[in-house]
Amino acid sequence: MRIGILTVSDRASRGVYEDKSGPAIIEFLREALSCEWTPHTLVIPDEQDQIEATLKAFCDDEGCCLVVTTGGTGPAKRDVTPEATDAVCEKTLPGFGELMREISLKSVPTAILSRQTAGIRGKSLIVNLPGKPTAIRECLLAVMPAIPYCIDLIGGPFLTTNESVVKAFRPKV
Ligand code: MTE
Repeated sequence: MRIGILTVSDRASRGVYEDKSGPAIIEFLREALSCEWTPHTLVIPDEQDQIEATLKAFCDDEGCCLVVTTGGTGPAKRDVTPEATDAVCEKTLPGFGELMREISLKSVPTAILSRQTAGIRGKSLIVNLPGKPTAIRECLLAVMPAIPYCIDLIGGPFLTTNESVVKAFRPKV
């Protein structure tokens, strides 16, 4: 099982600062998932073409069932991660962004500036997170319970979680 972790940041990609958000995503997923998985990570600048190409490569070539992005969701001119996500997805899942903004609003009023979204490309789920390392855990804790069932529905692998961290919700049929 492969999971893509894509950090979108001009400064982290140039080495101006160290990427802390990508490692925070890996750390959370290591705690939350009880199944075997391999991370595929990349740090790229806020260039829409490059983001789209990387998302396609993670989903179509690497076979990632889940791709989590961090960064580039704000209102600044260079923030284009949601546009790139929408461009490569066949379906959008606005509930992810809605829930993460609601949760983040309890910590910071500027959470409404995040345009983060999620969507489906083939058998892959792509989820945007904000770029702040501190936002990673609270956002993932909020949306993670719905992710395994979402991946079931699109024909991906069966994700299992450590219930002390996250309880995956699968509606009974
Ligand atoms: N969400 C949480 N939980 N914590 C934060 O600090 N920052 C907000 C918002 N969401 C923030 C947050 C701000 S200030 C912006 S501009 C947007 O996320 C976009 O961030 P990004 O461009 O780093 O993705």
